[in-house]
Amino acid sequence: MIKRYSYSPIIDTGAVVKNIPLSEGSPTPFILTGDGAFVYHMSDKCRIYGLGEATRGINKRGWIYDGWCTDEPLHTEDKRALYGAHNFILFDGEDRFAAFFDIPGKITFDLGYTESDTAVITPESFNLELYIVTGDSLKDIVSQFRALIGKSYMPPKWAFGYGQSRWGYVKEEDIRSCADRYTDAGIPLDMIYLDIDYMDRFMDFSVSSERFPDLEAFAAEMKSRGIRLIPIIDAAVKKLDGYSVYDEGHEQGYFCKDADGKDFVVGVWPGMSVLPDFLDPEASRWFGMQYKALTDIGIEGFWNDMNEPALFYSEKALNNAIEELKNKSDISLDALNFFGLRDTMNRLQNSPDDYKSFYHNAPEGRFRHYDVHNLYGYKMTKSAFDALTELRPDEPSLLFSRASYIGAHRYGGVWTGDNHSWWSHILQSLQQMPGLNMCGFLYSGSDIGGFGGNCTRDLLIRWMSFAVFTPLMRNHAAFGTRSQEAFAFGDTEVFRHIIELRYRLIPYLYKSFVKAVESDGMFFRPLAFDYEDDGIAATVEDQLMVGDSLMIAPIYRQNAVARHVYLPEDMRLIRMSKGDISTEELNKGWHYVSVPMGDVVFFAKSPIPFAPPAMNTSELQWENLETL
Ligand code: NOJ
Repeated sequence: MIKRYSYSPIIDTGAVVKNIPLSEGSPTPFILTGDGAFVYHMSDKCRIYGLGEATRGINKRGWIYDGWCTDEPLHTEDKRALYGAHNFILFDGEDRFAAFFDIPGKITFDLGYTESDTAVITPESFNLELYIVTGDSLKDIVSQFRALIGKSYMPPKWAFGYGQSRWGYVKEEDIRSCADRYTDAGIPLDMIYLDIDYMDRFMDFSVSSERFPDLEAFAAEMKSRGIRLIPIIDAAVKKLDGYSVYDEGHEQGYFCKDADGKDFVVGVWPGMSVLPDFLDPEASRWFGMQYKALTDIGIEGFWNDMNEPALFYSEKALNNAIEELKNKSDISLDALNFFGLRDTMNRLQNSPDDYKSFYHNAPEGRFRHYDVHNLYGYKMTKSAFDALTELRPDEPSLLFSRASYIGAHRYGGVWTGDNHSWWSHILQSLQQMPGLNMCGFLYSGSDIGGFGGNCTRDLLIRWMSFAVFTPLMRNHAAFGTRSQEAFAFGDTEVFRHIIELRYRLIPYLYKSFVKAVESDGMFFRPLAFDYEDDGIAATVEDQLMVGDSLMIAPIYRQNAVARHVYLPEDMRLIRMSKGDISTEELNKGWHYVSVPMGDVVFFAKSPIPFAPPAMNTSELQWENLETL
């Protein structure tokens, strides 16, 4: 059952697609305090699931989180928010219910952080609708919620292949040589991603004619080898007279405005830039139609970035900071002054003051960005999805985003942004998946090998062994970091076997994904969702159910060659070792399972179909498969 409570919303976020009558007079499970917080007292056994891609455990209890789309490049444990605002939480204790706080501005979830037995949820402003969902089981609650927010995005089949990315493939030849090295090593590959390097001076929808002289021919050449090129699109548009996207948007008034009604100018990769107003349906449609420049030359998918929106600085704040620094130039640089100077510049990035100083022109009226901040990336994804559906009506396009809000799950997937080449981030990525799935983001994954920092061969092997199961399987790294492609560490055999296993499992993964979309279910589930009466299953934080038949328990510790695995029922261990598959029956309970480097081990409840190895999805056999 779903109940709706309305607290003076100023805008319809569009997150919810079903009409639920107001539950006037009926109490929520929360006590609403005089200072505007929703309070819930938790029993000791209460666990909390949800919050989408938020960091920390599968059980979110014990930390404080913000629902606030944040450009956060360092995903350490103390962070309160990443790129998505996914304000859905599910309490499983004495009471069992979920709450969705549909609020476009900021909200804080103190889930036993200040007081360990109390959840305090504080919206910054009362511009919200609250939905309370109750049901027969954890799965039932999630599927009712998902029916409320609408069906998840369905990517094309080929998007289940493996993709290679790197910020730093600056020219056509870099991409071709990457493809060649995969082909030479016999490693399957379906996609190579183009980061901002393909653009002319980081201008959206432009292509550098010097570095990519004929992208259309090059995309066709790659596609003839079974590899699709997937370019990035950034939210901000370079402010440059003579650049048609800027000129048109400026003339039509499609960019966000400052308090005086002038285009609000910010600094991002292209330097001084302006922000398309995705809350204005006309501006949104106009921006979406710009993707045509790339779909016309054969591009079939995109990743949308920097759409929190990330602001390195605003023009105004930068000028003020420069003035401030000039005035301070003659002071003695003792420690405090030095830190003060440094902070003057650091404070510029993603500053709340900047988010408070520009405006959107939505159908409901004019809104200060800060109050509707969480909708920006979501509406950018919608803009792209709507346009791509029109531009490429016959086939789905690949689309995923960095920033998101519930609602965006209908239009695209998400990747989990700028993680690091840290062992802890394999586990973090695993723990993010069920939360994302609850909120409808089924097509998701993290940068395999880690985005920041330097990856090692063993880290990549273990990370990939987990990512074999994530719908979005993409290796991506930051500019200036060590190479981490599957061919980068000399011995390619081990990576060939792991990626080959992914392809062999695609029919199972794809079918499970489609089922999750159609049934409003979860592709990845915590064990507690399938084994509600099993007290141990509910405590397991490093294993997941994948589809109806599989369970995974990846290795995520340096130098570990075995791990404890909990089997909530009798299962078959499936082991891929050097390309060979073997199985072993195991009983319910704890097992210490050996996983030598390069082996991939997972567990099955029922027979799993395996396709023969294939070099890409177009070569993949989908029918008459061997089951093991
Ligand atoms: C930030 C994104 O998170 C990252 O994936 C990308 O490589 C850089 N922007 C550069 O475009």
